[in-house]
Amino acid sequence: MSLLRVQQLTMAWGERIIQRDLNFEVQPGEVFVIMGASGSGKSSLMRHLVGLQEPHAGQVWLQDTNLYACSDEHLSALRRKFGVMFQSGALWSSMTVGENLMLPLKLFTSLPQHAMMQRARFKLALVGLDDCFDALPAELSGGMKKRVAIARSLMLDPDLLYLDEPASGLDPINARRLDELLLSIRQHLGTTIVLITHSVESIFAVADRALFLDDQSQTMTALDSPQQLQHTGPARVQAFLQRAAT
Ligand SMILES: Nc1ncnc2c1ncn2[C@@H]1O[C@H](COP(=O)(O)OP(=O)(O)OP(=O)(O)O)[C@@H](O)[C@H]1O
Ligand SMILES: [Mg+2]
Repeated sequence: MSLLRVQQLTMAWGERIIQRDLNFEVQPGEVFVIMGASGSGKSSLMRHLVGLQEPHAGQVWLQDTNLYACSDEHLSALRRKFGVMFQSGALWSSMTVGENLMLPLKLFTSLPQHAMMQRARFKLALVGLDDCFDALPAELSGGMKKRVAIARSLMLDPDLLYLDEPASGLDPINARRLDELLLSIRQHLGTTIVLITHSVESIFAVADRALFLDDQSQTMTALDSPQQLQHTGPARVQAFLQRAAT
């Protein structure tokens, strides 16, 4: 059974349609990439998938629950199973890295303090920032902040992780490390990952399948492995994926 199912989804801001008739399923354990030009609607789609933005039409199902036809309590309980890193990825500047990480635990669990600290340190080690527990966000580089935000999205051991452009602003070496981190999270924790990225290198490195949101036709025009799309995808998708070679 698929984990996530999108049916006939149309997204709009006010009266303006962004994308229409999206249909796709995400399988458990999959690394599923959402790609497309800037403004095509990737971040908007993520907001729909996590229960934050009601569809103009159509449905988003998480297993057997329609996210926009269930009770608020049920939706909040489901959202605790998601790890989400938004494109802005903001950390609380007045809190240390450790406090930022422990916040989801304080809000949603009754773990004792030492268990929270232990888990926060473990997640920090996972993103290679063992020494940063007591640092303030302002003391970190842009790439380190990104990694802290990823660690925070992992704090509740989510079944499903949503990441919006986690590698933007990272140098190529750290971007590659991030790809390796995502694959190791999937391998060791069995996490299903929905990743928004414009990095063609990342797409080829991590995606089992990639969905293309076309900004001209305002709908999805491809969904397949990147290797397959590179050869047999529609022209605009092939052009998008060929940027890697340039
Ligand atoms: N809060 C908002 N209010 C009104 N329109 C919005 C809002 N957020 C996004 N949009 C519009 O929705 C469209 C899709 O935006 P979205 O942020 O989903 O694109 P994106 O694919 O994530 O782009 P990028 O690659 O630049 O992050 C754009 O035309 C944008 O202007
Ligand atoms: Mg975006």
